[in-house]
Amino acid sequence: MQIWAIANQKGGVGKTTTSLCLARGLAQSGQRLLLVDLDPHASLTRAFAVPSTPPPAGSHDLFTGGGASLASLARGTDIKGLDLIAAQPALATLERRGATQPGLGLALGRALHAVQSLYDHVLLDCPPTLGLLMVNALAAADRLVVPTQTDPLALHGLADMLRTAAMVERSRRRPLPQHVLPTLYDRRTKSGVHSLEQLHAQYEGRVWPEAVPMDTRLRDACALTAVASPGGRGADAYARALRWLLKQVEPAQRKAA
Ligand SMILES: Nc1ncnc2c1ncn2[C@@H]1O[C@H](COP(=O)(O)OP(=O)(O)OP(=O)(O)O)[C@@H](O)[C@H]1O
Ligand SMILES: [Mg+2]
Repeated sequence: MQIWAIANQKGGVGKTTTSLCLARGLAQSGQRLLLVDLDPHASLTRAFAVPSTPPPAGSHDLFTGGGASLASLARGTDIKGLDLIAAQPALATLERRGATQPGLGLALGRALHAVQSLYDHVLLDCPPTLGLLMVNALAAADRLVVPTQTDPLALHGLADMLRTAAMVERSRRRPLPQHVLPTLYDRRTKSGVHSLEQLHAQYEGRVWPEAVPMDTRLRDACALTAVASPGGRGADAYARALRWLLKQVEPAQRKAA
């Protein structure tokens, strides 16, 4: 089972869209897949049209006293092979508790360990804040995928994110390979083109050689139900990004075999 955290401390860079598009692609190729929504705003959960009242069972329950089993929280979706763990608004209260409850930073990793045989891939859609939920995701992940908007401010956000990842990597004493996906790219703007060049210059080797273009069909993708595949330039770009990501994983898997 491969666990990928889709994370960036900066908001609105395409984390949820990336999670959804990569998940669709993996499910289409026959993988057994679990998507975990770790964002109290629950955009991903909404994309799957999970009713919000009463609050669904979901990722917050992994952190509560009883420690609900992850397998019992996963719900099937209309996409074959794809299960979802919904987000609950109560996730927003976790940060305060994390400071007083030792071991809470590893709760997600422990829960995922128990379902290793059920899934080929797990994708963790992270909130845009550095806190307990992000730390849980980074501690549990085998790979970090960082969607990054192609504008100058987003480059600062990326640097912050990679610094955080390096910190977690040191404390967990296990490598956390990082992959940067340029998103929301507008090749008609100078700042877009310049930012993409800078990304490649600064993070050579870690950046997907292409970029997901601005595409209105993707803008609607999270508003539509997740089964409605948007198609078009953006979705095609994500299909290529997924192939690239899987290629990055191959050498490590060969080594481990
Ligand atoms: N390539 C794209 N072209 C056009 N719109 C896009 C593209 N990618 C994402 N969007 C839109 O941009 C907005 C932000 O995307 P998304 O919600 O995926 O980002 P996020 O990083 O998950 O945000 P948050 O930090 O709030 O969780 C959404 O309205 C989404 O539909
Ligand atoms: Mg999101």
